[in-house]
Formats: sequence, structure tokens, C-alpha cells
Amino acid sequence: MTRVANVIPGFSSCSKPLVGSTKVPGDKSISHRSIILGALAIGETRVHGLLESADVLGTIDAMTSLGAEIKKNRHDSWSIFGVGVGGFSEPKKVIDFGNSGTGVRLVLGAIATSPIVATCSGDRSLSLRPMGRVLEPLQMFGASNLSRSGGFLPLTLAGAKNPIPITYVSSIPSAQVKSAVLLASLNAPGETVFKEPSRSRDHTERMLKSFGAEISSEIQDSECVISCNGYAELNAQEVFVPGDPSSAAFPICAALMVEGSKVKILNVCQNDTRNGLVITLKEMGAKIHIENERNLHGEPVADLLVTSSDLKGIDVPAERVASMIDEYPILAVVAANADGKTVMRGLRELRVKESDRIYSMAKGLSESGVKIEETEDSLTVYGNGPGAIAGGAKIKTFYDHRIAMSFLCLGLVTRKPIMVDDCKSIETSFPNFISLMKKLGASIELRIENES
Ligand code: S3P
Repeated sequence: MTRVANVIPGFSSCSKPLVGSTKVPGDKSISHRSIILGALAIGETRVHGLLESADVLGTIDAMTSLGAEIKKNRHDSWSIFGVGVGGFSEPKKVIDFGNSGTGVRLVLGAIATSPIVATCSGDRSLSLRPMGRVLEPLQMFGASNLSRSGGFLPLTLAGAKNPIPITYVSSIPSAQVKSAVLLASLNAPGETVFKEPSRSRDHTERMLKSFGAEISSEIQDSECVISCNGYAELNAQEVFVPGDPSSAAFPICAALMVEGSKVKILNVCQNDTRNGLVITLKEMGAKIHIENERNLHGEPVADLLVTSSDLKGIDVPAERVASMIDEYPILAVVAANADGKTVMRGLRELRVKESDRIYSMAKGLSESGVKIEETEDSLTVYGNGPGAIAGGAKIKTFYDHRIAMSFLCLGLVTRKPIMVDDCKSIETSFPNFISLMKKLGASIELRIENES
């Protein structure tokens, strides 16, 4: 009998220049939201450019189990026939969110003000991630829950029968917490107010507005305050998903590091709540030209022309964290290949991502021969310039897609190849990462080992 391996190791080695023009898949955050808002709207929402990755397919399954009808059309668009705000039916089975923190946290919000009971589970990594951050505000709406101690999955949520609107002051800048609260507010009477210490990605607010919700945001005494009126009637929309800047980060950074590279990445989301990496790379000396800036149905997009560059280490301020929260692993790789010291501050949230990303990066980089200093909420990388990294390490990825992709990019510029223990996690966000990178010229290979 042939058993398909559930981990797929991979490796990368010193690469020829990356050259060409490419498009990365649709933005993960916008894709999740388009499915959830489509399911909450009346009528047919059509989504173009949806990210068809494991995480988003999990959200499609979740919305289907709550009563929405969702199908893929010819020409690659998706149709969602929504049930309307307040129209969810009780799921008949446990909803498994796999590896997706965004999926489970947003869906918990969407069901918290409906009188239904739902049980949610996830994989090993998701079961280690805190859900208390969304359960606390959702309880204020009147929802109740039973979870593993400490607020971990699996958990069962009973939505509020008579929800009340809330004012919630969040201590962390998290778009997932904000979105859970805003989605819950849709089926509560009156105005819900959410305050966050700094501005996190605002795709939920933009999309809610375009679906017809009454929502506004403003900065008050350096806090970002978002208000949303409940009992909203959402109208189905046509959604165009731009390329994911967090996925574009990998070919961008690889092209900057591999000498002689010149790569154009088309149609990348340029929302200013997501652009911290490009700002940081430019401060390090990166040649990135932003061309053809335009508006794609409510989200700014552009094409990015990237040329390999000599980069220097810098100090990355804590205020920038929310705008590049998912990009620190690949930035740490770039910093290792740059000249001088790069200090990344304010990284506490990285400890509770798909893996503890400060630990994962510090461990993998030091095993590859890079000098690292780690504190509870910072990472310092000492770069010795191009060609200085030994490599030759076998990297533990902790089933974290961004750790796997980051180290595969590192191996393109190390003296000895880099092995990663698993590339299967990459399917959660960037299913064609390896083929796209290979087409640009990157020397990355999978080791498929079928067990018999
Ligand atoms: C996301 C928000 C971020 C980010 C995640 C996607 C979203 O998480 O890390 O990959 O789509 O709202 P936090 O809100 O927890 O920072």
C-alpha cells in the first residue's frame, strides 16, 4: 500500500539570478473576509482572484456548514449565496479550521450573536494558539463558551440569544480580534465600538462599508476607534482580491538577496496597514520601484519592480509591527544577508503565531551560522553581508508556512544548502510558492518521500 507522506521536506541552494514577471495568489485576509461577508449578505456575492489555499478552503467549509451555498464558477470566480445577517443555521458537525487562526477567530465572531451552538477544532499548531482574546469580547455580547482550560481549541461557542452591543478596548493591535468584534456587532442592536492601541489591517472595515454596513473609524488620542451599527443589512457584492503582500514578500526578498536578480510582481495590495515591509526594505537600501498604482474595488494595488540590492542593517521601530506582522521571518532572513546589525522591536505577538516565530527564526538562523540575540519581544540579527552565511542546516519549521518559505529563501544565498523539514504547511497560504519561485530561477526542490 502506498501512503502519501504528511510532511514534505525540501531544500534550497545557491541560486542563479531570479528574473521575470509574476503574480502572487490572492490576499489571504481579504479572501477569508469575502467568504464570510458573502455568507452574511443577501444575494450572490462573486469573488474574483480568491486565494484557494487550505486556510481559505476551511473558511468556505465553515460558511457552508452554517447554511451558505458556495460554488466555484468557470473562469475561476467563486459565488457565495448568503443567508443574510442573523440567518446562520446550526452546524451539524464540528468545524475544523486546520491551521487557520484568522478563519477560526473571524468565524467565532460571525456566529457569536446568532442563537446557535458550534464546536470548533484545529490542528496541533492552532490548538496551541490563544482564543481568549476573542472569547472575552464575544462573551460581552452575551455569547458563552466551553473550551480547553486557558481558552484553547477545541471549543464550543453558544451564540447570544439576545445580543447586546459593546464597547471594547483591546490591549493588542489585532485585526483578528477587531474583525471578530465587528462581525459579531452586525447582529446586535445599536452601536458597537472597538478601540485598538494602533491601527491593524483594515480590510474588514473597507469590505463592510462596500457591503453596505454603517461603519466609521477615526483616530482619538492615538487610539484607533471603529464604530459599527448593528442589525445591518448586507448586500451581495462583486469582490476583486488583490495579490497578497505577505506572499509577495518572499519573491521580493529573494530577488533583493540573489545578486543579478530583477523581478516584477504584478497586482500587489498596497493598503497602508500592510506596507511596513516595503518601507523597512527601502530604509535598508532596497531598490523597489512601485509602478502602475491603481484602485482595485476599494483596495490600492500596484506592480513592484525589484532589483537585487546591497542592504544594510537598521533599527525597525515597534510602531511598525502591525503593518508587517507576518513579514518578520523573511525580514530576519534579509537582515542576516545584509551588512550590519538589524534590531526588530515590539515583536511580542510573534510568540503566538503559527509557531513562536521569534524562537523559530532565532533557532534556524543560528543553526545556519548567523549571530542572533533574542529577548521576549525583540530579535537582533548580525549580518555580515552577501556570501557570509554558512548554511548547511536542517531547519525545523514547526508546521509554520512562513518559517518554511523564509528558510527556503535563505538557502538561495548560503554557502551550503538549507534543508527544511516540511513544506506541506506552505499550502495554507501560498500553494504555488515552489513552482512560482522555480519559474523565476530559484533553486528550490521538494523531497517527496512516499512511504510504502
Ligand atoms: C490577520 C491578522 C494578523 C495576521 C494574520 C492575518 C487577519 O493576525 O498575523 O496572518 O487576516 O486579520 P493578528 O490580528 O492576530 O495580528
